[in-house]
Amino acid sequence: MSFCVAIDGPAAAGKGTISREVARHFGLAHLDTGLLYRAVGARVAEGEAPLDAAKALVADDLARGDLRSAAVAQAASRVAAIPEVRAALVDFQRAFARRAGGAVLDGRDIGTVICPDAEVKLYVTASDEIRAERRLKELQGSGFDTDYATVLADIRSRDARDASRVDAPMVAAADAILLDTSRMTIAEAVARAVAEVGRALRR
Ligand code: DC
Repeated sequence: MSFCVAIDGPAAAGKGTISREVARHFGLAHLDTGLLYRAVGARVAEGEAPLDAAKALVADDLARGDLRSAAVAQAASRVAAIPEVRAALVDFQRAFARRAGGAVLDGRDIGTVICPDAEVKLYVTASDEIRAERRLKELQGSGFDTDYATVLADIRSRDARDASRVDAPMVAAADAILLDTSRMTIAEAVARAVAEVGRALRR
């Protein structure tokens, strides 16, 4: 069975948790595509050329301990605006999307570019302020020393860059189901996503 769930949306909207839980619930493989851009961004911050870094990515890069930092997130957003970098990462993502057994991919362009024929597309959003509060808790929980204003500014600048780039900008696919998690608990958001995917699986 090939079955693709595409989950897109801005930074810190809850895509990661929702994707992981949907994958676990239905026994699907999960790829956090943001990690690919973060790993390229981290290599570029160390002096590598963006396209070389994208072509040289290996599994170990995705296991680096520093990929969740705000600095790496910004580096990821910058390299993600380079069309050649995106092109170098397409084949891997498309193969993952159509692997036997089915897959959940989360990112910014999964429903529009990577897997436009996905069986289910979700676009997960929340207000800037709520996303910043959630990301602040997450970062502080992982030992990062930061504050609300910094996190909010970081999210807004990344979203602006991700939404305005020419190649594969962050945008909801026309046929995506919108999931605004601003007033939902994470359990409620996961339940909604599981229900939508379940409906598509039964079709
Ligand atoms: O999902 P994330 O916050 O880990 O993503 C980090 C950056 O990578 C994000 O700001 C934009 C880029 N990205 C992208 O351009 N396309 C994707 N499919 C996933 C992430």
